[in-house]
Amino acid sequence: MRKRVWISLILCLCLTVSMALVGCGEKKEEKATSDDQAATATADEAATVAMTDGIDYMALVNKTHALPEDWEEKLQTIHMTNSVGDDVEVEKKAYDAYLKLKAELEKEDIFVDLDSARRSVADQQRIMDEFTEQYGADYAAKTVAKPGYSEHHTGLALDLYLIIDGKDIVENEDMIQYPDIWAKIHDKLADYGFILRYLEGSEHITGYGYEPWHIRYIDNVETAKEIMSKGITFEKYLGTASGAPVTIDYGTSEKYTKEELEAAVIQIKCKFAFWNNCELKSIRYAGDDAATDEKLAEFNKQNPDAKYTKVAEFVMDFHTGENSGDTTLESNHDYTDYQWWLASTDKDGWEIVSFGY
Ligand code: DAL
Ligand code: ZN
Repeated sequence: MRKRVWISLILCLCLTVSMALVGCGEKKEEKATSDDQAATATADEAATVAMTDGIDYMALVNKTHALPEDWEEKLQTIHMTNSVGDDVEVEKKAYDAYLKLKAELEKEDIFVDLDSARRSVADQQRIMDEFTEQYGADYAAKTVAKPGYSEHHTGLALDLYLIIDGKDIVENEDMIQYPDIWAKIHDKLADYGFILRYLEGSEHITGYGYEPWHIRYIDNVETAKEIMSKGITFEKYLGTASGAPVTIDYGTSEKYTKEELEAAVIQIKCKFAFWNNCELKSIRYAGDDAATDEKLAEFNKQNPDAKYTKVAEFVMDFHTGENSGDTTLESNHDYTDYQWWLASTDKDGWEIVSFGY
């Protein structure tokens, strides 16, 4: 790897963390019961557990922001039992707000329950493993957050499910069939301090596809109203994401399907979304000729444990504004043919292995 690329990688370490698993998906994400805290389920929706106070309700946890280290010590949760008899752990204030939201929805004959809320890292790993086994690594990689980087660790992210005519609609592919009901639910979220987290068409910012069921408590009605009325992502509100439009050229490839190339591009867009004040203009697949066995061997040599089986190069044009936060980038500059190398294992999907000039 060239020196400049290394410098870029090191200086952007805070941005890079792990961008392993990105994309859209609608299959059922299984519930996790907390395995690091006794699941003392009660018969109805009753509170059981409390710890200390002081979490940051506006904390950003996403593809590039891990759960804050001291979160677990500060988190106050309760356990409830949902309509299908599962134990669900939720942050205390989020649960209170959820109950109010639920009651309000019921006035309009909309019935919801909690499928999943707080998950431990071990829970998330189990879901990831199950998804990998059931749907394959690529799909799992596109649907489930990497353990340590799931908003569900906060206890503030709630996955709802629908109850229609007394029937529990819990599978994601079934729930997505009710856009009108979700629209009514989304209309009321902000009144109770919730936002919709994974918006349609925002996967290049959030790193995930549309999830109408995944709501996030932020403990501030006014802010929630601002975010929801603007229809923006939490990242955008917090100023950590660029919403610039992008031209994508997948070219032609005999090595990779369009879906594979799209999955790779989403990785790039998600990472770029965290470069402050930078405007992404275009991304182009550099072609099969660049994806050589030599290049694959080079990245496998750098990371022998990964066992990469695929490699691809993309080039990007973008513009930097003031203070992009990466000292290797010039401010107010047009960059062209900026290189991105991605490698993929059979198990984990694409990851960015190098970027820079
Ligand atoms: N499905 C969401 C992104 C998660 O796994 O946290
Ligand atoms: Zn969720």
